[in-house]
Amino acid sequence: MRRLYSSALLGAVMLVASPVFAADANRGKTLYAACQACHTEKDDALGPSLKGVVGRKSAALDNFRYSAPMKRSNLTWDERSLREYLTDPQGKVKGNRMPFSGLANATDVADVIAYLQTLK
Ligand code: HEC
Repeated sequence: MRRLYSSALLGAVMLVASPVFAADANRGKTLYAACQACHTEKDDALGPSLKGVVGRKSAALDNFRYSAPMKRSNLTWDERSLREYLTDPQGKVKGNRMPFSGLANATDVADVIAYLQTLK
């Protein structure tokens, strides 16, 4: 009886916990619509292409004119630096010219990064 009770409890805990821990790329794709106002593959896009951005050095694309602060930032876009940048773009790269104030919700940030990982 006791054993049954604890496994039911464990199941309930896992059910509640999983959405918090597993980043959801599909949800991230929906949120990414806000980024697509600027980040597309087009030559006249306001922002650099984010295809393959995870693992890329910051300011690495030749066909985009990055700001001087972004060029100087010398970052590699991994999960951690993306999380910091997307939460607070000006805090992470002071003076960069991405006109976006950041995502306030940590789950949103994780989901967007999960989606960025699928852009290859
Ligand atoms: C209003 C336009 C705009 C929006 C919206 C926007 N960005 Fe940007 N983003 C830019 C610009 C412009 C830059 C280049 C900044 C610089 O050179 O200082 C940039 C740079 C970046 C970079 C660095 C790219 C590189 O090659 O080093 C990342 C990563 C990024 N944005 C992610 C995002 C994500 C994810 C979103 C949505 C949550 C988003 N941006 C929303 C305009 C935008």
